[in-house]
Amino acid sequence: MEMLPAKGTLSHREALLKAEQSISKIKESAGKDPSRLKYHFMAPAYWINDPNGLIFYKGEYHLFYQHYPYAAKWGPMHWGHAKSKDLVHWEHLPIALAPSEPYDLDNRGGVFSGSAVDDNGVLSILYTGTIHKDGVLIQSQCLATSFDGITFDKYEGNPVIPGPPAEGSADFRDPKVWKHDGTWYMVVGSSKDGMGKALLFNSPDLREWNYVGVLAESDGTMGTMWECPDFFPLGSRYVLMFSPMGMEERKTIYLVGDMNYATGCFTWDTMGDVDYGYEYYAPQSFLDGQGRRIIIAWLNAWDWMPWFKNFGPTSKNHWCGAMSAPRTVELDEDGRLKFKPVKELEVLRRDHYHIEQTELSPEVSLIPKYLGSDCLEIKAEFDMSGCTAEEIGFVLRDSGDGVQQTLLVYNKQTGVLSFNRSRSDGWSEGTQTATLERTGREPLMLHIFVDTSVVEVYTDSYRTVMTNNIYPDPASIGLEVFVRGGNVNITSLDIWKLRSSW
Ligand code: FRU
Repeated sequence: MEMLPAKGTLSHREALLKAEQSISKIKESAGKDPSRLKYHFMAPAYWINDPNGLIFYKGEYHLFYQHYPYAAKWGPMHWGHAKSKDLVHWEHLPIALAPSEPYDLDNRGGVFSGSAVDDNGVLSILYTGTIHKDGVLIQSQCLATSFDGITFDKYEGNPVIPGPPAEGSADFRDPKVWKHDGTWYMVVGSSKDGMGKALLFNSPDLREWNYVGVLAESDGTMGTMWECPDFFPLGSRYVLMFSPMGMEERKTIYLVGDMNYATGCFTWDTMGDVDYGYEYYAPQSFLDGQGRRIIIAWLNAWDWMPWFKNFGPTSKNHWCGAMSAPRTVELDEDGRLKFKPVKELEVLRRDHYHIEQTELSPEVSLIPKYLGSDCLEIKAEFDMSGCTAEEIGFVLRDSGDGVQQTLLVYNKQTGVLSFNRSRSDGWSEGTQTATLERTGREPLMLHIFVDTSVVEVYTDSYRTVMTNNIYPDPASIGLEVFVRGGNVNITSLDIWKLRSSW
């Protein structure tokens, strides 16, 4: 692994150039890996984690991301950059930010996560500079600006917030900025005495910041550190989304409530999970030109089980990490959230298979073999009113010889949907579960996106999403729908083979 140069030996521009050269050398080789995704966003090569600076700017979608451009593992953080006209096809742009200054150059730090805003046409990024002094973590909030949306200059007055207030701690990162009534606001993730929290600041100009107070904090059960907090209005309410450390399997939480800007207080009444999968972390939201609130997340999560140690087997092929499909966030009538894949993804649809009003019984094979693929969209609705089946499910990425298969199973009695990847590929492990709230009263709807090494499942009227990575052989493409213990009527089943967006 190439190490960063000693402090101050390269200017920001030189550090960016060096990073670009490193990626140029390896991207062709990384691009040949058969488990590269077909329609999810990936860096050209090497490591990627959180989405950063998501913004609809001058008519285009910009996606920045935590990036280590020297190896397929986490290292001193840079910001990679890409843009898109439709959220489906992405164009890679030059790396936007590299560690170069005393406040962000560090072998265990760098340019950490943050957000972007349009300040009268100037694309302005707020990020966390992370360094260590005498082994002690120092995180500060910093500004970088761009007139063309591609080349960024770090503000000479950085850091704009040099350290945490007394109510925070050295873990003080991931600023998310928005404007309300002509004032800029920033929420920053922090922790104190083992309680995760979100701290609120405001500013007239993105440069001078005032500490307002604690926007929300854990009651002792909601994690020890809140990473990547995101705060946004939705309908008549406000949503705080964050990725808690120390909540074990729960990786992305949302709180719905009301905001009082006069007091800086957010009072919430509804809590939920943004995603129930193993691999969905640090989602960030933005508002697009159509008024949609859209989120994108990192398709991985930090280490909490032994099998996460290597973040997937793709590192040996010089890349690691990807982004989820963009999802809209909507408020359901009871105050919970719904997450839907953006409509734009429909441009990927090609061969279409459709059946409706079909009785499915055990041991029946329904789906024609030619539909097998590692790049699919499946939308199924099952009528639960006359259902005698105990379980309804899909076999995904089946090798056909019983060696590799991934099981998605709904149990009617318990109301639990499970995603079992223990036989997916010989590498992945675990069964992830979610209890569906609506299904039973409503039909069972499963909307599934299969890409080479990721499966996103939307269900329960889009109130529940489950995202997991699997790494089957390219030839394991079998697909089947099944029932056990009785019959069910399939109201409709649509399957599309999807084309690649790359
Ligand atoms: C979340 C996170 C952030 C941090 C970044 C570093 O995944 O840990 O809190 O800014 O990743 O890469």
